[in-house]
Amino acid sequence: MLPVEQILRTCQTRSNEFLHQLQILETSDASVVSLIGRYETGRFHEDLFSVLGVHQPERLAKAVVKRRAEFLAGRSLAQAALTVLGKVPEPVSIGPNREPVWPKGIVGSITHSKGRCVVCLSDRIELLIGLDIENVAGGPALDSIFHVALSSDEADLIRQQSVMPQETLATLVFSAKETLFKALFPAVGRFFGFDYAELKSAPSDTTLKLGLTKSLTPELSKGHCFDIGFSVNGGAVLTRLVLPDPRR
Ligand SMILES: CC(C)(COP(=O)(O)OP(=O)(O)OC[C@H]1O[C@@H](n2cnc3c(N)ncnc32)[C@H](O)[C@@H]1OP(=O)(O)O)[C@@H](O)C(=O)NCCC(=O)NCCS
Repeated sequence: MLPVEQILRTCQTRSNEFLHQLQILETSDASVVSLIGRYETGRFHEDLFSVLGVHQPERLAKAVVKRRAEFLAGRSLAQAALTVLGKVPEPVSIGPNREPVWPKGIVGSITHSKGRCVVCLSDRIELLIGLDIENVAGGPALDSIFHVALSSDEADLIRQQSVMPQETLATLVFSAKETLFKALFPAVGRFFGFDYAELKSAPSDTTLKLGLTKSLTPELSKGHCFDIGFSVNGGAVLTRLVLPDPRR
């Protein structure tokens, strides 16, 4: 197997620095590979799809450059993660609900935001994985998080705690809910909104607890809690959840 550094260097060089600062995130489980990196929308070029061996779906061809750039970044990193896992870097297509359709025997998640991209993949198909990155919100974006993604109880909890600045925690809860959505989607199979989970208490240094407010499936019933890992770095929050698939 090629060393991770070599895989990431090759990907970065081939991309003509469209991708840069690629790194592996440390995890306690070698079967779960998380890669993070930056992408430059200004360096996006159509030819990079073929250079990086990423299939461009038909529906993407008419999308704006920002969308094609983030898609290319996510798929390139996902294919690099497949190589790190010792797999053939097969294409990852788009499912009917926008979900990534992983090659057989793979589970994972993709996130991108404002030039940052992260993927987390595993060949342990008994797992569910969710991932989300967000810039810490301010101004109207923060108002919108409070309005759309948080309940009044969560807003009170966020305003009363002193663990971290309110805008950081509000963004974290929003991100954790998106991570939960992505992780559970394969088991639930349908859209569910932000009111399906709530923050249970002020977070610790690295973990935030969300509980289900309503049942999603017989195995994912009201009250079920999830410890979502997080980090706050350079004005962005990253949340991640890896859990056993309750259907297995
Ligand atoms: C789907 C959603 C979570 C994506 O999050 P986002 O912050 O807009 O964007 P991100 O960059 O973080 O993630 C986008 C990636 O999510 C993945 N994704 C999209 N739909 C998905 C789904 N149904 N299941 C799993 N992953 C999905 C895709 O890989 C996508 O990237 P790609 O299109 O390049 O492949 C968000 O748009 C959404 O619909 N949220 C409402 C549902 C929700 O969060 N409910 C809360 C439950 S408590």
